Amino acid sequence: MKKTLLITGGAGFIGSHVVRLFVQKYPEYKIVNLDKLTYAGNLENLSDIEDSDNYVFEKGDIVDKQFIQLLFEKYDFNGVIHLAAESHVDRSITNPMDFIMTNVVGTVNLLNAAKNNWSENFEDKLFYHVSTDEVYGSLPETGLFLETTPYDPQSPYSSSKASSDHFVRAYGNTYGLPFVISNCSNNYGPNQFPEKLLPLFINNIRKNKELPVYGDGLFTRDWLFVEDHARAIDLIYHKGKNAETYNIGGFNEWTNIDLIKVMCIQMDEILGNEKGTSEQLITYVKDRPGHDKRYAIDASKIKNELSWEPSLQFEEGLQKTIQWYMNNQQWIDNVTTGDYQKYYVEQYGK
Ligand code: NAD
Ligand code: DAU
Repeated sequence: MKKTLLITGGAGFIGSHVVRLFVQKYPEYKIVNLDKLTYAGNLENLSDIEDSDNYVFEKGDIVDKQFIQLLFEKYDFNGVIHLAAESHVDRSITNPMDFIMTNVVGTVNLLNAAKNNWSENFEDKLFYHVSTDEVYGSLPETGLFLETTPYDPQSPYSSSKASSDHFVRAYGNTYGLPFVISNCSNNYGPNQFPEKLLPLFINNIRKNKELPVYGDGLFTRDWLFVEDHARAIDLIYHKGKNAETYNIGGFNEWTNIDLIKVMCIQMDEILGNEKGTSEQLITYVKDRPGHDKRYAIDASKIKNELSWEPSLQFEEGLQKTIQWYMNNQQWIDNVTTGDYQKYYVEQYGK
């Protein structure tokens, strides 16, 4: 094998698409997927590639310092693509400490292991930290997040991600650890845990349940199909410059309510419902505390320097996504049992 790569969080939503892309595109690499398999991690996401010769799964916690050190000794990694995280803003509001442990302490454990095991020779090594646009805070009605926008995180989730970004840069600056960071906007697509807006609402329509729109629904997000994010990660890993940051976005802003209405129209068509049926489920509920008003990415750096662009038009990506959830109802049913039901009642009151 030419290279051995550690991908953390590979059983989660984005991580599983990144693992699949690397396993299929680079048969000469050994891909080690490390995941704790929290409620958000699901090996079913990778059932199509789990028997590949160049793929290994390791169950473990990035917070466990000794486990991480032994893993680095076992595999002699050339690179790390770090996606493992607690990723849901609402959960960070009720349980911030889980986010500090995994997102901050876990990231620093990985940085230490990379620094200690690679320090003899940093050449051909790379620590790639996958981050979010939420570190930049909330935008007014105009303007875009640039790579140079000052950090201004507003939620416990985004604060933990911002902190981990700072630690990655600090390890580059202080110890010479080669690194890249990318900050991406909202992803959508297959295998996203149904706590996030789109899969939650698709599942609720399917079950004829209310669609809980936070506040006035006029919050704006910039949506990107998950496979386009995975392609960007591949490009940045192989062609990105040391110590650089790349913003990744869909050039695709929607207010939540407009997005939900388009999704309702597509769901009615797919389910053969009368027009307007799904929209009737829209229910305005109490706002998320500290809810960021608007995110929007200026992705010109990755477009100009690495020739990356989103490949899918949004309506097409949305249709593909809805179709995937409707064709994989067993997947949703499997992940929405047990703890999920308790979470749902705590979050939405019914
Ligand atoms: P996810 O919640 O779907 O998956 C996270 C994965 O990490 C899960 O498989 C989980 O089991 C694993 N994990 C959690 N804690 C762990 C621990 N302590 N040790 C080992 N594994 C652990 O998240 P996602 O949406 O796929 O996000 C992946 C990464 O991308 C995160 O770092 C997130 O901040 C970032 N990101 C997400 C989005 C988005 O829209 N979802 C956008 C930009 C950036
Ligand atoms: O911007 C990138 C970020 O996008 C990632 O870093 C996060 O990991 C990811 O979870 C996502 O964060 P958001 O908070 O934007 O995603 P979420 O799907 O939770 O919410 C999208 C919007 O929809 C947001 O404005 C809140 C709103 N919303 C969400 C839920 C779950 C509702 O109105 N009702 C809901 O029930």
